[in-house]
Amino acid sequence: MPHNMTRIGRRAFVLSLGASAGAGMFAMASKSRRGSDDQEDQDRLTRDKPRDFSVNGDASLRERAAAKGLLYGAAAREQVLTSNPDFASAFARECGILVPENELKWQGIRPRFDRFNFKRADELADFARDHDMLYRGHTLVWHKALPAWFKEKVNSKNAEKILTDHIKTVAKHYAGKMHSWDVVNEAIEVADKRPDGLRKAPWLNLLGPDYIDIAFRAAAEADPKALLVYNENQLEHYNKPRNEAKRTQVLKLLERLKSKGVPVQALGMQSHLGSKPLGSQGKKLRQFVKEVADLGLKIIVTEMDVSEKLPWDVAARDRQVAAIYEEYLSIVLDEPATIAVMTWGLSDRYTWISKRIQRQDGASVRPLPLDAQLERKLAWNAIARAFDHAPQR
Ligand code: XIL
Repeated sequence: MPHNMTRIGRRAFVLSLGASAGAGMFAMASKSRRGSDDQEDQDRLTRDKPRDFSVNGDASLRERAAAKGLLYGAAAREQVLTSNPDFASAFARECGILVPENELKWQGIRPRFDRFNFKRADELADFARDHDMLYRGHTLVWHKALPAWFKEKVNSKNAEKILTDHIKTVAKHYAGKMHSWDVVNEAIEVADKRPDGLRKAPWLNLLGPDYIDIAFRAAAEADPKALLVYNENQLEHYNKPRNEAKRTQVLKLLERLKSKGVPVQALGMQSHLGSKPLGSQGKKLRQFVKEVADLGLKIIVTEMDVSEKLPWDVAARDRQVAAIYEEYLSIVLDEPATIAVMTWGLSDRYTWISKRIQRQDGASVRPLPLDAQLERKLAWNAIARAFDHAPQR
């Protein structure tokens, strides 16, 4: 685009690209502007100009992903799947893989120090098996969702044994049946200011940085068939130096683990996205997933949803959410190392975002592919389009 074009002229040019220009519009708009102006115009573009989110046929997300050698699935809560048959059948139709939203966390599976309760996670495993779906585990090590007894029972003398026993008990219970395990979740926090970027988490305090190695080795021993994943949040945010630092520290951690022969096999990118398009920042995402792949690791989008507080009407909000889904997934799925996409829930009726975001207009949040009535939304179309356009695996 010519440098001397006026602002209005440039805007008219961008708008005249038309609805079918798709994700390319973001790139086009951002090349022509600078800074926050850029961002505002991108947002307005999505709101004012209906984009083309059309898809061919009505094959499910599961089928579209499978057609490319990919997996699509979602997180679900046992209570919801077993109490709402309509939701359960929508889930079975759309998903090729299921991950328990909370049931495998320490709090969910180990109510007392000396008692494991596999009931709810087993029911989800049965649901997956009965509907010919894969099952994935989340998560063996996390600084959150620790049971109340944890502080009282665990100390630096017994921590290694408690951690390895826990991992072996849980991973062995599902051995051979798990597609993948999030072995360690959210271990990096640059705000904690350690040179290695590690979060000042309970396991770090108890065992030092080796807790990560210990966890992966125990998981590999307990279930040699499951793909072992390091799962992390906020790798997807591209405009803050803190997120840049986080990506750098995650890459360094993965490199360190690989060089020590720790059996980490994939990076999970949680992908809880906000309402801002990536625009010209998309190239950084492309670069990051390439660097992860160059380490010999697979990539899974593990917890995707898109939340926004935009003061717009529902149709415009849905268009924005869909645009964010398609823009993000089209980049991540371009990388052949990416093998699966999971959303953190399937329907807006059941989403953790409803507790996280208070909208000023009191309207409900709409971060997922199906609406609260289980109808497909534009976000569904956007994911479908991303699979349809993804290179074959
Ligand atoms: C969330 C669940 O969705 C909520 O139901 C629960 O109250 C808190 O945890 N990153 C993760 C997930 O790795 O385990 C979190 O799940 C969402 C953020």
